[in-house]
Amino acid sequence: MPSVTTKQQAAVAQMHLGLMSTTSFDGIVAVLKQTLTVPKLPGFEGCRPCLSGLDRPIIRRHRHAWHPLTGGRAKAMRPLPKLGVGLAFQAPLAPMIEAAGDDLDYIEVVPDILWTDRGPTEAPRYIDDAEGLATLLRVARGRPIVAHGIGMSIGSAGHFDRGHVAQVGRWNQQLCFPWHSDHLAWHLAASEGGRMDVGITMPLPRDAATLEMLEPHIREVQARVAAPFLLENSVYYFDIPDGEMDEPTFLNRLCRTSGCGLVLDLHNLHTNARNHGFDAFDLLAELELDHVGELHVAGGMELDGFDLDAHSDTVPDPVWALLERALPRCPNVGGLTFELFGSRFDSVVEERVRRDLQRMKAMWRSAGHGRAAAGSSRPARRAEPRSAGA
Ligand SMILES: [Fe+2]
Repeated sequence: MPSVTTKQQAAVAQMHLGLMSTTSFDGIVAVLKQTLTVPKLPGFEGCRPCLSGLDRPIIRRHRHAWHPLTGGRAKAMRPLPKLGVGLAFQAPLAPMIEAAGDDLDYIEVVPDILWTDRGPTEAPRYIDDAEGLATLLRVARGRPIVAHGIGMSIGSAGHFDRGHVAQVGRWNQQLCFPWHSDHLAWHLAASEGGRMDVGITMPLPRDAATLEMLEPHIREVQARVAAPFLLENSVYYFDIPDGEMDEPTFLNRLCRTSGCGLVLDLHNLHTNARNHGFDAFDLLAELELDHVGELHVAGGMELDGFDLDAHSDTVPDPVWALLERALPRCPNVGGLTFELFGSRFDSVVEERVRRDLQRMKAMWRSAGHGRAAAGSSRPARRAEPRSAGA
């Protein structure tokens, strides 16, 4: 039986060959990079909400970030505070967020874009972007800020970046996240005695060995960051063959044994169902929805018959239909987040974005989630932003 490490090395070697698209892997990367490149604005560079794949070089270029090139028992998730409807923060969306009023209850942010990682041998390793953080706090106008990270690579076999986890913990102390999340994926792989950054989020082998590998990583995050921890079902443009279980079984077991919650991204689910030929509603029916702490919706694009999770449009009808089914069945869900890349904001048009947010709010209320008692959805008092981390 090959180890998780061996399977991950094989996946890196095969990723160009296993793609179920007539467009080349590099062609898809090029299209997504175009979408993900955002205008440079004062205080922000390379700002984006959710690494669904393929754009890490963009962030590396803009943020000058360090990347390591060589480099039980069933648990129920505690209900999260009922925040309501949120938007993934992007600098071009800032004016709309400031004017959104009751349409928006919280802001989601990729914290990794607000610091520079100089590498584990540097002191200090992290330089926080004080200007960017101050702008985020101004735009949030006192709304809770939820963290949705991209840098943990929690699924890497034989690698766990405790420095990164500690940095998330420090930011949680400042911003008091109601919860925080990252992606159920990996991008750092073992390579010739060192590590390499694959540059995209990679799917995990769905087997018992992978679950065993993930569990201690999750427990360590739970111990080091004093906020509930969720992982997002990732979009995958190719799959690792010979899995021992299907995706809902894998997710159910992961959440049950680790106590980790789920960010259920319905556009990822829709995209995977279209590209890999399964019924998204069938998967939803098998998923234990009491593990869901947050829902994501977004729009994407089609490229030569292949669907991309490009966060490039408003929410399409099939994703609304999935939301209609899922939302009333997620008793512990705390928030419903819309993801849209800032580079597409002008072409999508603000009015359409606001319409989607209002529709989300109406669905949130009719699903019976309402809102927590006044004040309980507000974060604890935030500390003043610092200019540099340890
Ligand atoms: Fe997402």
